[in-house]
Amino acid sequence: MSEQNHELKVYAPPAALAAGAHVSGMAAYLKLAAEAEADYEGYWGRLAREFVSWKKPFTKVLDESNAPFFKWFEDGTLNVSYNCLDRNVERGLGDKTAIIFEADDGAVTKVSYAELLARTCRLANGLRSLGVKKGDRVVIYMSMGIEGVVAMQACARIGATHSVVFGGFSAQSLRDRIEDAGAVLVITADEQARGGKALPLKSIVDEALALGGCDSIRNVIVYQRTGGKVALNAPRDLWLHELTYDRPTTCEPEWVSAEHPLFLLYTSGSTGKPKGVQHSTGGYLLHAALTTKWTFDLKDDDVFWCTADIGWVTGHTYITYGPLACGGTEIVFEGVPTYPDAARFWKTIEKHKVTIFYTAPTAIRSLIKAAETNPATHPKHSDLSSLRILGSVGEPINPAAWEWYHANVGGGRCPIVDTWWQTETGGHMITPLPGATPLVPGSCTLPFPGITAAIVDELGEDVPNGQGGILVVKKPWPSMIRTIYGDPERFKKSYYPPELKGYYLAGDGASRDAERGYFTITGRIDDVLNVSGHRMGTMEIESALVAHTDLVAEAAVVGRPDDTTGEAICAFVVLKRSRPTGEEAKAIAKELRDWVAKEIGPIAKPKDIRFGDNLPKTRSGKIMRRLLRQVAKGEAVTQDISTLENPAILEQLAQTN
Ligand code: PRX
Repeated sequence: MSEQNHELKVYAPPAALAAGAHVSGMAAYLKLAAEAEADYEGYWGRLAREFVSWKKPFTKVLDESNAPFFKWFEDGTLNVSYNCLDRNVERGLGDKTAIIFEADDGAVTKVSYAELLARTCRLANGLRSLGVKKGDRVVIYMSMGIEGVVAMQACARIGATHSVVFGGFSAQSLRDRIEDAGAVLVITADEQARGGKALPLKSIVDEALALGGCDSIRNVIVYQRTGGKVALNAPRDLWLHELTYDRPTTCEPEWVSAEHPLFLLYTSGSTGKPKGVQHSTGGYLLHAALTTKWTFDLKDDDVFWCTADIGWVTGHTYITYGPLACGGTEIVFEGVPTYPDAARFWKTIEKHKVTIFYTAPTAIRSLIKAAETNPATHPKHSDLSSLRILGSVGEPINPAAWEWYHANVGGGRCPIVDTWWQTETGGHMITPLPGATPLVPGSCTLPFPGITAAIVDELGEDVPNGQGGILVVKKPWPSMIRTIYGDPERFKKSYYPPELKGYYLAGDGASRDAERGYFTITGRIDDVLNVSGHRMGTMEIESALVAHTDLVAEAAVVGRPDDTTGEAICAFVVLKRSRPTGEEAKAIAKELRDWVAKEIGPIAKPKDIRFGDNLPKTRSGKIMRRLLRQVAKGEAVTQDISTLENPAILEQLAQTN
């Protein structure tokens, strides 16, 4: 046992919570894990029958004949929107509040399951009237709100595959995604309200379509959110309220195979352009519902709040699908955590008596800082006694932030579920279960029952606990990525490299502690950065920089640790002109930041930009990124630089602007 393990603080599940939990106590967890191990297909088949309502039951659980293109429950048919809406109404939950919408300005709108179903049906009928049919791709570029959820549910209802693009992405990024998906329609809003400001959406769609390559688009549907002035280009563009107001409030669902693609969601990889992660219908829905219920111990009277945006996978699984499939009541929040001040989260929890709160470490860290600078925003000024469970997602949570979250938000009584998963995994993979798993700050603890997460070396051999390695998942699971849209070869290459024995390669490094076998995620092992829980490829940012052909000759991008955002983007740039210094360097750095924001979106703006006469390269011309990572951190370069073509460059690049 290492010394480190002796120092680990362990928090047992609170007894009362454990007693009433869906998975109650470690024995229950182990029993489920053992059931899955003894009969893998039997386990998932049982849960698929319990958690999902099938139009036609499946007869086969898993088809591995074309691995790694696995199929789950393939001959079963179902509809996700039926499962999330009609089924709850049929169970007598029609009047139950499905969504409590907390707008940016604090206005509250509640919708019941019956109303949400009616709105979804209206839009689904509207989409059908425009000729949108099963298998068509629909891009959703919306702000956070009830209509965003309705748009996704309406696509699911008619079997159209949605692809939500985060409202912070630029026209160029939106265009690329529309083109790659071959979408027939875009659903957007006039503007989005964020932090007291109205930010454009529709005009960005116009810009994206004007960039060309989007000939597949037939219509743009516009939800009127702010009433801001936008151009409506008839007959292509239609107001959502005009399209839907006199449509019937019922709509026969399209019953699809469990393998039918429910959605594409673009995410960054280590090379090239963002990839369209394709998810299924049946397996995805099963895991969304199952993990919502077990990881958050969701009960009928809970008020669940996931602060993610529907533009990311967390918003898909834990806003649009999981909580609704479980018949829960949830908050949908439009604003930002710092508006009108940094107590917004805490005041909103108090206002709606939130019981389960799920957010990202980056938000916690920035709110800790805010409470230090402005003590009036500290959570102690709000009544957070309704909370019973807290969650964390998107990046490693450092133990100090964990302890603060636990003590100050959770009042020392709420378990924190630190959930490790990815866009590709569809739902939680490694996570505590709040009524079962003893918690260790900074560790996402143990695999969800049935998930075969493991740590291996480069050849796929298990590494002993206490040693670090590559995080893999040994067996396929129901909510896994099915393919990269339009690029099955890239799917195989990215996730199933031949040397790993057919295991799924997550792209993260991890270790397990010697005492409990608990997992700790150490971060990406590829060229993917995680900035404020947002995933970005270094190559994508490099491509954006070098696309500024008037100015940039060459660029290399690396991450460096950052106290608030987890990682920060650091770009090393060689200009086509002489290396700038002083004010001029600052001005060019600003120009390049704005350029990246335009090419990708503001989230991809480099925090540091350093200029050099050239970049550190080996004699064969390869950029030495490892050295750049050290330079970015401000560390002295200790490694052997004898193979470097131009060692003097390191000193130059170490200078900040
Ligand atoms: O590096 C891991 C990190 O986020 C990556 C997945 O990013 P994305 O697909 O955008 O999905 C984020 C929301 C699920 C992972 O490869 N990550 C996610 N959750 C955690 C995490 N790292 C550490 N601990 C977590 N709980």
